Parts: sequence; C-alpha cells; structure tokens
Amino acid sequence: MDQATSVIELRQYVQHWKDHNRSIAFIPTMGNLHAGHMSLIEKGQALCDRTICSIFVNPMQFGPNEDWDHYPRSLESDIEQLKAIGCDLVYLPTASELYPEGLDKISHVQVTDLTDHYEGAHRPGHFTGVATVVLKLFNIVKPDVSVFGKKDYQQYRVISKMVEDFNLDVQIIGQETTREVSGLATSSRNQYLDLAQNETAALIFQQLQQTAQQIEQGERNFETLQAQAIANLDAAGFKTDYFCICNAETLLPATAEDRDLVVLVTAALGSTRLLDNIEISLW
Ligand code: PAF
Repeated sequence: MDQATSVIELRQYVQHWKDHNRSIAFIPTMGNLHAGHMSLIEKGQALCDRTICSIFVNPMQFGPNEDWDHYPRSLESDIEQLKAIGCDLVYLPTASELYPEGLDKISHVQVTDLTDHYEGAHRPGHFTGVATVVLKLFNIVKPDVSVFGKKDYQQYRVISKMVEDFNLDVQIIGQETTREVSGLATSSRNQYLDLAQNETAALIFQQLQQTAQQIEQGERNFETLQAQAIANLDAAGFKTDYFCICNAETLLPATAEDRDLVVLVTAALGSTRLLDNIEISLW
C-alpha cells in the first residue's frame, strides 16, 4: 500500500492512475478503523479500480467541549487493516498543510437546511467542519466516487447536498450500516460500553425495527410513535436525545404523504452517545 502525507505526493499517485484511466474511490476517515470502515473500503473496491483512504482527525469538526486531543488514535493498527484489505493508498494529511493559517482564517462551507437539527443542534459548527474538510479532500484527491456510511445518516445527507449544491464531480455512495450480531451498529464509541451496556445498546436497533414495522403496517401517527419509542428507550436506561421519523432526503419531520423515510435516533448510555437509524420505503 502506498502512503502520502503531502498534497503534492498524493496528487502524483492520483495523476499516475488517471493517466492510466483508472477510476478512483475515496473513503475519508478519522482513523480508529473498524469493520464499518472496512465495508466502505470494500464498497470502493467493488466500484473503482483504485481505492484511497484518508486518515485525519479534523480539528474543525470538534466543538470547544469536545476533546480533539483524546479522540482515539490507532494509526499502526489502521494501516495494518488497510494493507490487509488491499487498499491502494493511505493519505495522512497534516493539519498544517490543510489549515496553514489555522482554523479561523480558512473559508467555511455552510450546507443549508440539513445542518441545524439533530447532530447539528447538539454539536454547533460540527457539520461546517465536516463539509469544509471533505470539500478540501475532494479537491485534493479528485475521486470519481466517495463512500460514506449511512450510520451517520445526517452526515451522508449533508455531503450529498454539498455535492449537489456545488456541482461537484464526484458520486456519493451511501453504504449500509454494519452491525454486531446483536444488531448494535458498529462504532468506535462501542469500545466505551461495558458488558451490560453493550447488551442494553442492542435495544436501539430493536426499537427502530419495531417502529419501522408499525409504519409499514400503516401507522401514521408519527408523534405518538416517537413518544412511545423514547419512553421505551428511557425505561431501558437510555437518555434519548431524539427519536425522529423524517423525510429521508430533507430530514424534515415526515408527513403522512412521504414515501421514503428515515428514523433517526441518538440515545446515551452513561456517557456514551449512540447514533443509529433505519430507512423505510413505503413505495
Ligand atoms: O465520518 C467521519 O469520520 C468524518 O466526519 C469525516 C467524514 C472523515 C470528515 O472528517
């Protein structure tokens, strides 16, 4: 596997591949790689000739109360996993190259409408940081395809809208969430759960499935469904931030006429916030 840390180096590899008509899939990550990330790499490999993975713990997407310093870093194991899966290149940009004059001096990308609610409300500025770094990475890598996990559904929609709004020449692919046997969505945060919490955490997906089934069977009183789901999760020991039945594209609260829905949930177990969602097609 090739490795690049500077923009110049990265672009030399990309140019070489483009000169040979190789298509390029790009998977941006913040490292601490797990099975979920590997499924994104595999998707890229299935779609393109060459796959590039970036690892960069982007300071711009962390709020003042979020600990960028303590974000889990495991570069050696990340590189081993990427080699084992056959990733072609790992890009390890430095903060000083991406933000040479610091975070305040760089232009920001503000994706409208999708960023004020849910994770955007809980983490003000987060999606601006995500969109800004992803736009920069797209312009550096110039991939044909980029794969994002649907586990972070709001992020996947924000990036898709940025690509649409700015006519970016990259195809965004949303990859299905990988899950533990219990149904718990794979996440770096799962490592913070103790054994008992890990078992309880599986209830999030069970609740999502139950709500999806009720909607599929014709229930359209979304407010009642949401309230029931929150009551069930809180009774099981979660502190539920939100459980919202939304239009899958706009992420606005769903109406009875909507056909493509997504149910977004974030619930904390102890100090660990867990995110998950389920898509529902009523066509
Ligand atoms: O999902 C992530 O790991 C990050 O938000 C991303 C897309 C790599 C941007 O820093």
